[in-house]
Amino acid sequence: MNSLDGNGRANHQDEAEANSTAFDPTVRAEVSRRRTFAIISHPDAGKTTLTEKLLLYAGCLDVAGMVRGRRNQRAVTSDWMALERQRGISITSTALSVDYLGVRVNLLDTPGHEDFSEDTYRTLMAADSAVMVLDATKGVEPQTEKLFQVCARRRIPILTFVNKLDRPGGDPLGILSEIERVLGIAASPLNWPVGLGRDFRGLCDRETRAVTLFDPEARGSLVVPTTTCRLDDPADGQLSDSEREALQGDLDLLDVAGAPFDRDRFLQGQVTPVFFGSALINYGVEAFFKAFLTLGPSPGARPAEEGPIPADRAEFAGFIFKLQANMDPKHRDRVAFLRVCSGRFERDMEVTNARTGTKLRLARSHRLFAQGRETTDEAFPGDVVGLNSTGDLRLGDTLYAGPPVCYEPLPEFPPECFARLDCADTGRRKQFDRGLFQLVEEGAVRVLVSTRPGVRELYLAAVGTLQFDVVQARLESEYGVPTRLVPLEPKLARRIEGDAVALKRLWLPRASIPTSDRDGDPVILFSTSFELESCRKNNPDLHFVPLS
Ligand code: G4P
Repeated sequence: MNSLDGNGRANHQDEAEANSTAFDPTVRAEVSRRRTFAIISHPDAGKTTLTEKLLLYAGCLDVAGMVRGRRNQRAVTSDWMALERQRGISITSTALSVDYLGVRVNLLDTPGHEDFSEDTYRTLMAADSAVMVLDATKGVEPQTEKLFQVCARRRIPILTFVNKLDRPGGDPLGILSEIERVLGIAASPLNWPVGLGRDFRGLCDRETRAVTLFDPEARGSLVVPTTTCRLDDPADGQLSDSEREALQGDLDLLDVAGAPFDRDRFLQGQVTPVFFGSALINYGVEAFFKAFLTLGPSPGARPAEEGPIPADRAEFAGFIFKLQANMDPKHRDRVAFLRVCSGRFERDMEVTNARTGTKLRLARSHRLFAQGRETTDEAFPGDVVGLNSTGDLRLGDTLYAGPPVCYEPLPEFPPECFARLDCADTGRRKQFDRGLFQLVEEGAVRVLVSTRPGVRELYLAAVGTLQFDVVQARLESEYGVPTRLVPLEPKLARRIEGDAVALKRLWLPRASIPTSDRDGDPVILFSTSFELESCRKNNPDLHFVPLS
């Protein structure tokens, strides 16, 4: 990463220019007013509450203090599947797109549940920055850590919002050192709380020392009236002596021992600016989003086989980061989510799929607003467009118009859970096969087929077991197929590579399960690493490759 422009773009602009065709001024203007980000957090840290506040500020929701009634508002928030409602967790990744203060904000929703990490990880590949939400009383929790590591690997900028400061038990200094110790990133607070727990009533801007105090009567309303005062003006009287002392003491300590904020280092993912607040009572949220608009990067050049491709050139290119069938059960459709990375996307344009070399016309494209969709005639880098797919698009596919582009492939994650899946109603076998095929295409789960002679069994392989529930629930509700799931003991899967003679002579331990994957390659499931090792020893001419 090297140069920055006035809009904070951190990208490979200089080297990218060398690979680029001429930039397009309209595209450049649209790129500079876009922020595409994902929220990373552990379940319950407050991601949904914060998202709702963003929708409120952007004028997309008009009910203040709606978190209590949130369960009834699912239609306008980001959950759309029946299973999500039942479980009260967010399963699918969604893209919300709103205009806020003249900026097009695209929020990629990343499910917080640990079992959905594969889908979540792929979504993070489509984000230009991330907002990390921490519960002030819990600090850095496991799921946040995992998601953070994925962002850190891509070196995308991360802003931190320390939430729930209205709850007793928060320790701002402790949180900062935990971020640095556990995540290995410098943490630089840009504001600091006045009071904690029940006494939390304001924020001090570290640079200007201006203190904003919130009206306690208006907790949770859309606009919480504020008054301001200065920390260095004791005569003002709005802060008590003890508040002033505590604040001054903390700020002095931070000035000496804290990590300084540096814009370049932030854009390179080396320091995270930290903001404090409470999403529920709406203290500090608006200031945070405004800071995000200023600090967050607009789309930059993206690595491709041809070198980094700048966002602001004229020719369109983008990649598919998610597939989902039956988003709208009434239409029985399949949607491929395209992240536009460069140039102008236009409805009906003819593009090439870099994987297959085939041309396709993008006739049906949608901009997504949670459950709602509107037809998109045009989109720019940073935007997410839903395309109707007839099975010709796969995860990670690059689509381009103009000179060929092939973006770097999406990472894959090895499955660790395996189960046998039986169709419980033999009369619906066809629907079972079709439904499973579509779910495999989405990348939600892998299917392996037994190659034991005379055995016609199907096995599911996934990163987490909750994914199995999703597959069963969707087969039942979308394809009318009841299924039975039998968990398998094996925890290790290896694809076997070698010449035909060695493959024919393959020796297997008794407890292992021979299968083939969707490309017809042999995959063996092993219960223990001891089993795998003995198989390796007995088949010295074969390679045992992890599935990823
Ligand atoms: P998530 O999407 O990250 O899973 O978290 P979500 O926003 O759903 O918040 C989880 C719970 O934490 C919710 O309570 C929510 O009201 C509460 N919460 C969020 N932000 C704050 C905050 O700043 N302060 C406090 N005190 N609570 C906060 P719930 O009772 O589980 O759900 P609900 O009945 O309120 O919807």
